[in-house]
Amino acid sequence: MIVPATPDSIRIAAEQLRACDVVAIPTETVYGLACSIECQQAIARVFALKGRPADNPLIVHVASIEQALELANAVDHDVVRRLGTAFWPGPLTVVVRRSANVSDAVTAGLDTVALRMPAHPVTLEIIRLAGVALAAPSANLSGRPSPTRAQHVEDDLGDAVMVVDAGPSQYGLESTVVRLIGDDLVILRQGAVSAAALESILQGTSVRTAHEVDDRHRSPGTRHRHYAPRIPVMLCRDRDEFKGVLASIPDLRVQVLCSLDAIADLAYPDARVISASTVFDEFRRAEALQVDRIVVLCDDRLLSDAALMNRLETAAGNVDFK
Ligand code: TXA
Ligand code: MG
Repeated sequence: MIVPATPDSIRIAAEQLRACDVVAIPTETVYGLACSIECQQAIARVFALKGRPADNPLIVHVASIEQALELANAVDHDVVRRLGTAFWPGPLTVVVRRSANVSDAVTAGLDTVALRMPAHPVTLEIIRLAGVALAAPSANLSGRPSPTRAQHVEDDLGDAVMVVDAGPSQYGLESTVVRLIGDDLVILRQGAVSAAALESILQGTSVRTAHEVDDRHRSPGTRHRHYAPRIPVMLCRDRDEFKGVLASIPDLRVQVLCSLDAIADLAYPDARVISASTVFDEFRRAEALQVDRIVVLCDDRLLSDAALMNRLETAAGNVDFK
């Protein structure tokens, strides 16, 4: 059931979460499927509703740095303070060693916990009123594109769950997941905060991706098939490849996606512009049109956005799943 975000619905959402119910909430990245970190049954229901693999831990959402500190082991309090002060509220998730206040159910048995303070006034208020941190994965069926609108949540999960609707998500891609390992800040999952933004704010800390350091440090979730619409996605690196791909499937119905730079002279009917904030919405729109293929022309503008390209490559199945 989709309900607009109002003071009343925000209060009701918080009460339901306190009562161990599951509620879909808006964030600045994507919609989340939230439950209290203190309700084991609600956590189990989140995994069941999404069809989520049991080895994939949840991100815990807090409304203050103090609340995050209660969930982090004291050895990592400095890291939480430092990254939280620089980036929260905002689309950065910080993985730290957990305190005894975080259960195995949330972390899928890991000794670390992923923490984030979302930059969305509705959800910050829901967390404050609930009086407890909220575990919330993206509110899609496991493997599907993340929901950037309330309707996407209902399309995936049906109307059993209350969805607090605050309009389209601002970023449209999930948060960046990082962990401080030694002196390096390692990006476990690319996302709404770029490596360049991290470097410019954290001067003196080198920012690396998990692949550069050691694959074992990747977020468990990045090993599963992800972000994929029900329609095959084909990526083209330049216009010649694009023409070749289209010529190879003359009888199929195609949705072309490209950047704002490419659209003007593409002369392809019904092509749609994508950016990080609209790519998942466009995937779902193409599904509704029941086309046979999604063909993406990746020009320099798209190629220069690492998080967007990561989602496109993953959706196209070009990423090696381990
Ligand atoms: O923007 C977001 O992060 C959204 C909104 C709702 O906050 N949430 C989200 O959650 O994308 P989810 O569950 O779809 O993705 C969480 C990612 C997964 O790749 C998971 O493996 C990783 O975070 N993760 C969670 N806990 C972790 C941990 N302790 N160590 C390493 N990775 C972890
Ligand atoms: Mg997800």
